[in-house]
Amino acid sequence: MKTAITEMFGIEHPIIQGGMHYVGFAEMAAAVSNAGGLGIITGLTQKTPQDLANEIAKCRDMTDKPFGVNVTFLPTVNAPDYPAIIRAIIEGGVKVVETAGNNPAAVLPHLKDAGIKVIHKCTSVRHSLKAQEIGCDAVSVDGFECGGHPGEDDIPNMILLPRAADELDIPFVASGGMADGRSLVAALAMGADGMNMGTRFIATKEAPVHENVKAAIVAASELDTRLVMRPLRNTERVMTNAAVEKLLEKERELGSDLKFEDIVDEVAGVYPRIMTEGDMDAGAWSCGMVAGLIDDVPTCKELIDRIMAEADAIISERLVGFQKRAAVNA
Ligand SMILES: Cc1cc2nc3c(=O)[nH]c(=O)nc-3n(C[C@H](O)[C@H](O)[C@H](O)COP(=O)(O)O)c2cc1C
Repeated sequence: MKTAITEMFGIEHPIIQGGMHYVGFAEMAAAVSNAGGLGIITGLTQKTPQDLANEIAKCRDMTDKPFGVNVTFLPTVNAPDYPAIIRAIIEGGVKVVETAGNNPAAVLPHLKDAGIKVIHKCTSVRHSLKAQEIGCDAVSVDGFECGGHPGEDDIPNMILLPRAADELDIPFVASGGMADGRSLVAALAMGADGMNMGTRFIATKEAPVHENVKAAIVAASELDTRLVMRPLRNTERVMTNAAVEKLLEKERELGSDLKFEDIVDEVAGVYPRIMTEGDMDAGAWSCGMVAGLIDDVPTCKELIDRIMAEADAIISERLVGFQKRAAVNA
C-alpha cells in the first residue's frame, strides 16, 4: 500500500506508533520500524538531552529503517530544555519528529532547516489547520476515543476525520481507537493516509513494559477507561483502577475548586512504577477505549502484517464484493 504518508516518511506500511511516556524507548520504536511502520521514541521520557541522544543512537543500532522522536510541549512550570532536546534530535540524524501538546512553532524552523519532517498530533480541526499554517508536513488527528489527552472538544473520529479531510491540504493520519485492518480501511475511507496507534502497540511482545501492563490491556473492555483532570482542562483518558476511582472521587468532591496539588499522588511520577515495576494501582496511566479490541500480545511484525493482510482482504474482497454483487443483480 502506498499513501502520502508512506512516501513522506519512507516507510513500507502507513502505520505509526505514537510517542508514549515510559513505553517509547528504542526497543519499541525499532520493533515497529523493523516491521515496516514508523516507530517513535518518546523524547521527554529520557531524563536529559544526552540520555535522548544515547537512546537515538541505540535505536539506530537496532534498525536501519526510519524512526522518529516525539516532542510533547507540556504546560509545566519547569519546562524541559527544549532547545537541547531539539539539538539532540538533529545531531542524532533523526528524520521525523512527532510534536504534540502546545503549538510547535518555536522549534519548527530548526527542524525544517535540518530537513526533518514534522507531524503534529492534535485533537481538533482548528489545531490541525494551525499546524498546516505554520508549516507542519502532516497531522495526526487524535479523536475523543484516544488514550492520553483527547482535548476538551470530545469529537469522536467518525466525525473528526472527515471534517479534517474536508479542511486540510496536508496529509493526515487517524489516531485514537485504531487497532486492526478494519480501523485502517475505515481511516483511509474517511480521508486519512494512514493510522497512528498507541494502546495497541503496548500489547506487543517487544513493548518494553511490565507484563502486568500488557495483561491489563488484554483483560480490559471498551468500558474500562475514564476521563480524569477534566476540571483542570487537562483531560486524560486512562485505564480505571483504585487510584483513578479515588482521583475521580476527589474531583466530584472538590468540583471547580480542584487544584493539581489535590491529585498529585495519583498522577505525578507514577509512570515508572506502572510501566517498569508493574504496580498497576500506582496511579493514572493513559489507555484508549481501543483496549476493548485488544485480546492478544503479538510481535510488532505479526501485528502489522496482520493489519495489512486484513486491510487488503476488506478492500479487495468485502468492499469489491459489494460492487460485484450489485453488478450481478443489475
Ligand atoms: C501509555 C500512553 C502514554 C502516552 N504518552 C504520550 C506522550 O508522552 N506524548 C504524546 O504525544 N502522546 C502520548 N500518548 C498518546 C499516543 O501517542 C497516541 O496518540 C494515542 O495513544 C492514540 O490513541 P490509542 O491509544 O487509542 O491508539 C500516550 C498514550 C498512551 C496509551
